[in-house]
Amino acid sequence: MSPKTIQLDDRLHAYLLSVSLREPEVLAKLRAETAKHPYAQMQIAPEQGQFMGLLVRLMGATRCLEVGVFTGYSSISVALALPPEGKVYALDVDPEATAMAQRYWKRAGVDDRIELRLGDGTASLDALLAEGRAGTFDFAFIDADKEGYPAYYERSLALLRPGGLMAFDNVLRSGRVVEPKERDSATEAIREFNRALHADERVDLSMVPIADGLTLARKRP
Ligand code: DHB
Ligand code: MG
Repeated sequence: MSPKTIQLDDRLHAYLLSVSLREPEVLAKLRAETAKHPYAQMQIAPEQGQFMGLLVRLMGATRCLEVGVFTGYSSISVALALPPEGKVYALDVDPEATAMAQRYWKRAGVDDRIELRLGDGTASLDALLAEGRAGTFDFAFIDADKEGYPAYYERSLALLRPGGLMAFDNVLRSGRVVEPKERDSATEAIREFNRALHADERVDLSMVPIADGLTLARKRP
């Protein structure tokens, strides 16, 4: 038996879900409604949402950041793992997808824990820094345009407390990262981002092969 990560075919993936997924009904409903959206593939996997919720609980996080909200699955997964006084700052450029997210925040009973900030992600992060929030966040989930990851990384790193955690979605790009013929700008951006993060001594790292690949980066004290 090789120590390499096991390949999950559909049956094994279904098994994994059948013995571990505890998806709240509101998230199952959100997933069903999002499946009709033209960009449905941007939604995170349910086991990934559960994993991030577990991380947030483990850390005892109260201040969270999300860059790239889409229809709200990840923000709800994180917000449900927070104590009542916890907060998620949810950043996105899309008023339509986030209108759906807001509907589900209410249905999940977490709308008082999530603050939506519409607009350019880098500008919104700079605004948080200008508001004096540097060093105050526990957790950040980055899941927006892939070309923006370096800018979101630098600003999130500044916003995190020492020991705080960032999670980056889609770091394997459905396997396209290893296909030389795949030259689209998002895949090129992720390749360069992965390379740069590997060499970045400011963070502890693990690239977790869950869903489309999730890199965890902890801000070193
Ligand atoms: C894409 C973006 C995502 O964040 C994702 O989870 C899946 C796909 C995309 O841009 O294709
Ligand atoms: Mg994503």
